[in-house]
Amino acid sequence: MPSYFITGTSSGIGLELVNQLSKDPANRVFASYRRSTPELEELARAPNVKTVLLDVDDQSSIENLTSQLPDAPLDVLILNAGIAKTFDPVAATARDMWLDHFVTNTVGPIMVFQQLQHLLERSSSPQVYFVSTMGGSIQSHLPFPSGAYGASKAALNFIARKLSEELPHIKVVSVHPGMVATEKALETVGRAFAGNEAVKAKLMAICISPEQSAANIIAAIHSPIRSGRFIRVDDQSDIPF
Ligand SMILES: NC(=O)c1ccc[n+]([C@@H]2O[C@H](COP(=O)([O-])OP(=O)(O)OC[C@H]3O[C@@H](n4cnc5c(N)ncnc54)[C@H](OP(=O)(O)O)[C@@H]3O)[C@@H](O)[C@H]2O)c1
Repeated sequence: MPSYFITGTSSGIGLELVNQLSKDPANRVFASYRRSTPELEELARAPNVKTVLLDVDDQSSIENLTSQLPDAPLDVLILNAGIAKTFDPVAATARDMWLDHFVTNTVGPIMVFQQLQHLLERSSSPQVYFVSTMGGSIQSHLPFPSGAYGASKAALNFIARKLSEELPHIKVVSVHPGMVATEKALETVGRAFAGNEAVKAKLMAICISPEQSAANIIAAIHSPIRSGRFIRVDDQSDIPF
């Protein structure tokens, strides 16, 4: 029975991953949440879904994780929880914003990995997926402001790559889930590009649904992708770091 642990499952891509993975009764899904939602509670009725309380900003919450999990191998860890609170330019981004993005998007995922590593080590084919973004690619030079958010995800990509070198027996991949029309993303884009209808329209035109994004992530998990890559999940091509 393959087991999956996912962070940030209250909404968006994380919630949809739980939905799709739990449809296969052969899967065991550990869905972690900071704020429960009726949608997640509904999915948690399935016998193969267990919800787990986790705030990735809070080290004591992370340390409390293993007591909520069975002492059993974990096959796939999907570090999806993340925030994008500001798209202010670098020179105008406040200290608190830098800290918030790095704590949630960079430090949180690696601390969760550290906490669950011993369970992954007991899997015959352990895999870790860091949900990143193309906006964290330094070499892609995307023409959008993505200051603290992009920097925190660029650091996350570095961590994923380094981890894949340090632990070659664990598959570690950074994924860009696409431009996904989650409620949070639509609200953030609306705020970030207020008054710039042309950019907003361009972004909306390339948006995919959370359902499609989650299906692409699951397809990537099931394909023989080499560890250490940073990929877009729609066609599994490499994104430059
Ligand atoms: N949507 C896109 O276009 C897009 C593009 C590229 C990358 N991504 C990445 O995809 C991931 C999911 O994004 P989404 O669009 O699905 O947004 P979302 O609906 O806002 O989902 C984010 C999830 O992360 C959780 N989270 C945030 N801070 C947390 C914390 N401190 N501890 C635990 N959970 C926390 C949220 O929980 P709460 O409900 O408790 O806040 C929520 O469940 C993020 O890492 C994001 O950067 C998204």
